[in-house]
Amino acid sequence: MARGYFVTLEGIEGSGKSTQAHLLVERLREHGTAVVALREPGGTPIGEGIRGILLDRDHEMMTPETEALLYAAARAQMVQEQLAPALAKGEVVVCDRFVDSSVAYQCFGRGLAREFVHEINHWATRATIPDLTVLLDVTVEVGLARATRTACDRIESEGLEFHERVRQGYLAVARDEPDRVVVMDASGPPDAVADRVHSVVLERLRQQRAGAGD
Ligand code: TMP
Repeated sequence: MARGYFVTLEGIEGSGKSTQAHLLVERLREHGTAVVALREPGGTPIGEGIRGILLDRDHEMMTPETEALLYAAARAQMVQEQLAPALAKGEVVVCDRFVDSSVAYQCFGRGLAREFVHEINHWATRATIPDLTVLLDVTVEVGLARATRTACDRIESEGLEFHERVRQGYLAVARDEPDRVVVMDASGPPDAVADRVHSVVLERLRQQRAGAGD
């Protein structure tokens, strides 16, 4: 059976990632594609429970190592419960964040070693790598101005320098893996960004299907 297609959306706070994930799923479904929508941390009841622990502002004492392991734990559950079965059925999966978030936030933001974060995630995901990652890039000033929620969670409430390191981390991942990671300027109106995201995904899906037919 054909393997499905795994798309992830990444970006800093206020990059519009969740809105774009939603719009992408809507557009793909309108075009008759079966899509599974997931988000991280979460996507499963266990993952949503872990999300609550991770984002709780009372958990200021959480160490970077605990944080990285909890993100990887939620991810392990999501991969085995949702992602792997959907891909095995040949479905398209759109996931709001994946391992690149751990590289950007836990390595570049918190300062953990990339080898450590890669190793635990390689194990947790059984070496699952997205087929395509769209990095929605905005400056930290634009992103944080957009993230208007009054009650910030534990990670959102980090300072500007933290979020700048996260953005630079994402851009470094994109430079390392230019075939997988497409960087998109996400500062414009959501519908215009959604048009560009949709056309990149459609083009890659066409390429995958053409390759499968060779
Ligand atoms: P969200 O706001 O996109 O739902 O993501 C929740 C927060 O968790 C966000 O501040 C980014 C952070 N995060 C990490 O630090 N590492 C990770 O691996 C993931 C998936 C999210």
